[in-house]
Amino acid sequence: MNEINIIQPDDWHVHFRDNEILKLIAPETKKIFGKCIVMPNLVPPVVNSQKAKRYKKEIIDCIGDNLKIYLTLYLTENLTKSELLEAFFNNDIFAVKLYPLGATTNSNFGIKNIKKIMPILELMSLNKIPLLIHGEDVDPDIDIFDREKSFIDKYLTKIVKDFPELKITLEHITTKEAVDFVLSSNNNIVASITPHHLASDRNSMLVGGIKPHLYCLPILKRRKHRDALVKIATSGNKKFFLGTDSAPHLKHDKESECGCAGVFNTKYCMQTLTQLFDDKNCLNNLESFTSLNGTKHYQLPVNKKKIKLIKSDKPIKFNKFLKKNNIQIKNYIPDFQVFWSLKKN
Ligand code: NCD
Ligand code: ZN
Ligand code: ZN
Repeated sequence: MNEINIIQPDDWHVHFRDNEILKLIAPETKKIFGKCIVMPNLVPPVVNSQKAKRYKKEIIDCIGDNLKIYLTLYLTENLTKSELLEAFFNNDIFAVKLYPLGATTNSNFGIKNIKKIMPILELMSLNKIPLLIHGEDVDPDIDIFDREKSFIDKYLTKIVKDFPELKITLEHITTKEAVDFVLSSNNNIVASITPHHLASDRNSMLVGGIKPHLYCLPILKRRKHRDALVKIATSGNKKFFLGTDSAPHLKHDKESECGCAGVFNTKYCMQTLTQLFDDKNCLNNLESFTSLNGTKHYQLPVNKKKIKLIKSDKPIKFNKFLKKNNIQIKNYIPDFQVFWSLKKN
């Protein structure tokens, strides 16, 4: 097959940031996707209706309203029930994002004591408000490569048991254990998967020199976990869908003594994914993963537009950076050749 047409994809986990970075990167998402869920970990974070309204306006002023954007509320231990209901029923936010305290970029307002948010989770369950989770255990004694599994064992299993009606997305899963957990849980439990966790593993990041631009959280894992992610994503299973977790940082913040976590992958994500699905002879499941499964879970309308991808004999040439004025952001580039390019219908 040298050409495929699929329903326009959605990005169920993206970081737009604000100000100049937003202006540079949000148009890239708009070029490709129909809908997206935007993360709230700004400085300061999106913790209430008023901040969400302001942020939505900033995004729409920048890219218009063609791309449907769904904002998230940054869950803090201080969030009150009335603040949550106000934000949700005013349509200022679509879902709530749980960051364990200190787990990732800008998570220092996150949750320290999960018990404190139980009444909020109950309210979310009753009102069918989706919960999106950065699932890593921040206990300093837990090895960084085991943090996802430990979060599932220590916290998520209990949350799922206590609130079986709560719609939960375990974001950016990186391990076979996470795949198995989602498969064995009820239908309200789903997962997003990033292009870079499908296309790279920890060898890509660490062998032959350290690649700071591949450092993200949860950290890239060993090959067997990547294989488990590829297997489930390419299977078309309805519980798994694309969330790019595209998370730009300035070049000098990544290439630093203490480089920050996050991979910016928007530009070539569809080309890279199509290559991966093609390599597994699963192109027929690409549309489920990128354009249908997430839409169905979130009970939103399927995009009307289609996109076309074309395979050529020559690999595509990647631009290393997205640049404007003095801002430089590194594009995620897989370490294999990609023969698929994206055409707009
Ligand atoms: C994200 C960021 O930079 O905001 N970084 C990352 O490594 N994934 C935060 C997140 O999604 O955890
Ligand atoms: Zn995260
Ligand atoms: Zn993220």
